[in-house]
Amino acid sequence: MNTLSFFLLLVASIASPAAAADSTSAFIYAGCSQTSYAPGSPSQLNVDSLLSSLASASSASPYSNLTSAPAFGLFQCRGDLQASDCADCVRSALSRISSLCPFAAGAAVQLAGCFLRYGNDSFVGKPDTSVLYKKCGAVAGGGYGPDQIGIRDAALAALAGGVNGATAGGYRVGGAGYVQAVAQCVGDQSASQCDDCVAAAVAQLRAACGYAVAGDAYLGKCYARFWYNGNGAYNDEADHHHHHDDDETGKTAAIVIGLIAGVALLIMFLTFLRKSGSYGKD
Ligand SMILES: *[C@@H]1O[C@H](CO)[C@@H](O)[C@H](O)[C@H]1NC(C)=O
Ligand SMILES: *[C@@H]1O[C@H](CO)[C@@H](O)[C@H](O)[C@H]1NC(C)=O
Repeated sequence: MNTLSFFLLLVASIASPAAAADSTSAFIYAGCSQTSYAPGSPSQLNVDSLLSSLASASSASPYSNLTSAPAFGLFQCRGDLQASDCADCVRSALSRISSLCPFAAGAAVQLAGCFLRYGNDSFVGKPDTSVLYKKCGAVAGGGYGPDQIGIRDAALAALAGGVNGATAGGYRVGGAGYVQAVAQCVGDQSASQCDDCVAAAVAQLRAACGYAVAGDAYLGKCYARFWYNGNGAYNDEADHHHHHDDDETGKTAAIVIGLIAGVALLIMFLTFLRKSGSYGKD
């Protein structure tokens, strides 16, 4: 089941310069539940205390799940982070959540260095391969040779379970030729759930990101990414080549334009009413 289906995916942007992409707190995506708790209500205070316990746990461990009935929460830091960087990342994730999803009954946020999710459904320990965010870089120019796809696929294949000592919740690093690849599962997944999730993420990348120099696929409980050496960060130019992202931006723009048009029409209508009203009075 798509356990994140009740989420309204809010914002997603990796259009960041190299410096920001290197930072563990670079924003990838966030989603909020459509239901929210009244500020100051017992449910909302319960979520607050769950989130602050998660923040405390993040200085001691790269993964933790906590329950404060009826709320569940977890975070997963990227496997190569120092404990203090993990704690910083989780704190940034919490501040993103409080600004993007104030008082939401559930939310998820992915930063470059950590993932954090909470909600009142028991999602902890369950697999979730629904695609939450996907992005491809620019189409590669010439000079990569005829076996570009083969090399990328070899890099992605190195993320599969059992390769390179890949472990369940561990950070998986693969590579072949000029292509680097990484994957990370949430620590609540068993080794086989993690393998399945990474395989699903890799399949998304292979299907969507053909000759692209980079690709990211974020699923409910894992992600996989690849990039050609020197193309680790997306830039604005890469964004223009990315159709999915352009579609999303287009949709958002359409909604915003629709809203503006709606408000403009309403104002015109009200102005018209007032005018006709005042003509009546005249
Ligand atoms: C979670 O909370 C929302 C809002 O209070 C409620 O509508 C929903 O039924 C709850 N879900 C579960 C699984 O308890
Ligand atoms: C959740 O946390 C508890 C307590 O730390 C731990 O025993 C359990 O294995 C965790 N469950 C999952 C699915 O990670």
